[in-house]
Amino acid sequence: MNNKLTILSVAAALIISSCNDSKQTKTDTVQVTTSENYMGKSISHKYDSMIDSLISQMTLEEKSGMLHGTSMFTTAGIERLGVPELKMADGSLGVREEISRYSWAPAGLDNDFATYYPAGAGLSATWNPQLAYTFGNSVGEESRARDKDVILSPAINIIRTPLGGRTYEYLTEDPFLNKKLAVPFIVGIQNNDVAACVKHYAANNQETNRDFVDVQIDERALREIYLPVFEAAVKEAKAYSIMGAYNKFRGEYLCENNHMLNEVLKGEWGFEGVVISDWAAVHTSVNSLNSGLDIEMGTPKPFNEFFLADPLIDSVKAGKISEAEIDKHVKRIMQLMYTLKSMGGEARVKGSINTEAHFKDAYDIASESVVLLKNDKNLLPIKASEITSVAVIGANATKKNALGGFGAGVKTKREVTPLEGLQNRLPESVKINYAEGYQERYAPKKESKFGDVTQERAETIDELDSKLVEDALMAAKNSDMTIVFAGSNRDYETEASDREDLELPFGQGALIEKILAVNPNTIVVMIAGAPFDINTIKEKSSALVWSWFNGSEGGNALADVLLGNVNPSGKLPWTMPKNLMDSPAHATNSFPGDQTVSYAEGLLVGYRWFDTKNVEPLYPFGYGLSYTTFDIKNARLDKEGSYSENETIYVSVDVINTGSVDGKEVVQLYSTKKESKVERAAQELKGFEKVFVKKGQTATVTIALPVKELAYYDVGLKKWVVESGTYNFRIGNSSRDMKAEVSVPIN
Ligand code: BGC
Repeated sequence: MNNKLTILSVAAALIISSCNDSKQTKTDTVQVTTSENYMGKSISHKYDSMIDSLISQMTLEEKSGMLHGTSMFTTAGIERLGVPELKMADGSLGVREEISRYSWAPAGLDNDFATYYPAGAGLSATWNPQLAYTFGNSVGEESRARDKDVILSPAINIIRTPLGGRTYEYLTEDPFLNKKLAVPFIVGIQNNDVAACVKHYAANNQETNRDFVDVQIDERALREIYLPVFEAAVKEAKAYSIMGAYNKFRGEYLCENNHMLNEVLKGEWGFEGVVISDWAAVHTSVNSLNSGLDIEMGTPKPFNEFFLADPLIDSVKAGKISEAEIDKHVKRIMQLMYTLKSMGGEARVKGSINTEAHFKDAYDIASESVVLLKNDKNLLPIKASEITSVAVIGANATKKNALGGFGAGVKTKREVTPLEGLQNRLPESVKINYAEGYQERYAPKKESKFGDVTQERAETIDELDSKLVEDALMAAKNSDMTIVFAGSNRDYETEASDREDLELPFGQGALIEKILAVNPNTIVVMIAGAPFDINTIKEKSSALVWSWFNGSEGGNALADVLLGNVNPSGKLPWTMPKNLMDSPAHATNSFPGDQTVSYAEGLLVGYRWFDTKNVEPLYPFGYGLSYTTFDIKNARLDKEGSYSENETIYVSVDVINTGSVDGKEVVQLYSTKKESKVERAAQELKGFEKVFVKKGQTATVTIALPVKELAYYDVGLKKWVVESGTYNFRIGNSSRDMKAEVSVPIN
């Protein structure tokens, strides 16, 4: 069976013409990536009558077993009826290693290695939906090779604060970019007969107090910022499962929130899949089931004590809930099983794992994710033929991130570090002088209780070791150039706690300043998943690169960018603030709350705040340089006159590669509506397209924008409304570098 996606795309002409000789115009075709390109397949109803008949033969105990974890990552099967267990695994970075059946201890197997894929922030920095599909499809194949039914991925909560412990794992601060990446990702996973479990639904934007905090968001911000990715996951990608979050929303825990589960998710959006709780996020039996939860997972108490285990059985016997209600949930789970072909006897995708093809997928994502922040003296790309030595400094040159911190990682046979990447890619004529420079050190941490879902943070030790500094300075002085690998890692940025500030830990800031003072030919490479305070580094360095927890091939991809084998094309998926207090959740003093957190910034999340309030960021959303330069001009529409609600606007621009190497640019379209009857952010991303343009050539890029994307959520009417009037579309290559503009009348 052809397991790849059939792209039902709108094809637009990409006219590539030589700037110098217009007669040599040649016409090529690219596909404009609209959401329609990635439609998932719905839950199958082919076996519904068979399912009803099976349910009629089940005992209450058997049904209850299907509704809750009976091991760390499975629910019960019913052998006598041929119903298998539902097998799950974490998957944000790739398929997690097997853990023990009844505890969090690693199972200690030797056949549970997997490809380590770039973390979410790395994927989103590619701004490339096709790579999101590649990622999903690749991890879907690995999930099947490990015999999983549900992969607990993607993690797609909006990045509200730069301090978020899971910022590295999530995608972005922008709802449009979020859904444009999440949808192909989910479709890619599910094309392999495995369910994506989209998490964490919803409003789970902080780790602090995540197990009880009550999140308050006004309805417009909820609909326009926090929910679009989930809505698209359901309506477009047809996600087969969704994970209920730990926290409360408007007073109710998300795993027993009738409004969010029954009314919005299953009612309004028509979700036909299965709602799975986050691990130990359930608090009641009858109420959670009645409110729309389907499966309770978790730890650490005995599995028969789960709310949907013995207590549920008792509740049925006591007449507090009907067996018909239980049947409804069991039916959904069985429909999922037949859709995934774990029942029904149809041939199922077998999958593959740790293949060179998958390492290549990880490489492709990593190589498009690296963001060039600064290159004032053209130190980059490194001209290897012109140097004989390079100092490589920093613990992050050798740090591995596949495992580490709280939560799921990947046990992998391959994680190429930045140092190894350089060793692999530099010619032998260049000597590498490595010095550690700083070390990752922590003060002893208070022991957490087993099963805690939030954690105390360990204090970092920020004093530098003078001998290590001396060695590093020596290496820097005695080398033609220096590369410092700094930033953080997955022990420092981790699930279950948020950071306290944006400071670079372990004394790195001071070290970098010393190195820049002795060798101005220094490139600083930050490896991190979330913003840090790099004001001084930005000011004092002339070459600054941002990379991520970037998967099995991260080091090779990074070396290829540094050496110019790959022209950087990554763009920041979030705003890098100058100061933490400039960020909206902090400027409004509404993070992290205590029992309750009220999102006081409302709609103005991320760049929407910075742009509306005229706050200068350190680096803006969508920013990233290239080794070439691009011009974007000639914005035009596909027709004259106004557009109506059901139309699609085709906006074309010419993208000219004005530099001396081939490269990819992300054309970004932001919409502004000046006169509006409702509050609006200064601008909002409404389209983007990554395009490859050869040096000296021009590409015409057409962005398809359904008018409906311009709608706001009318709280009174409870629906999306497209306001008529004039919209300005500004098109550029960062949210703060606009090159062309066109105004669009909507009637
Ligand atoms: C995390 C989930 C994860 C689950 C199972 C929870 O702590 O929030 O993202 O899937 O654990 O490991």
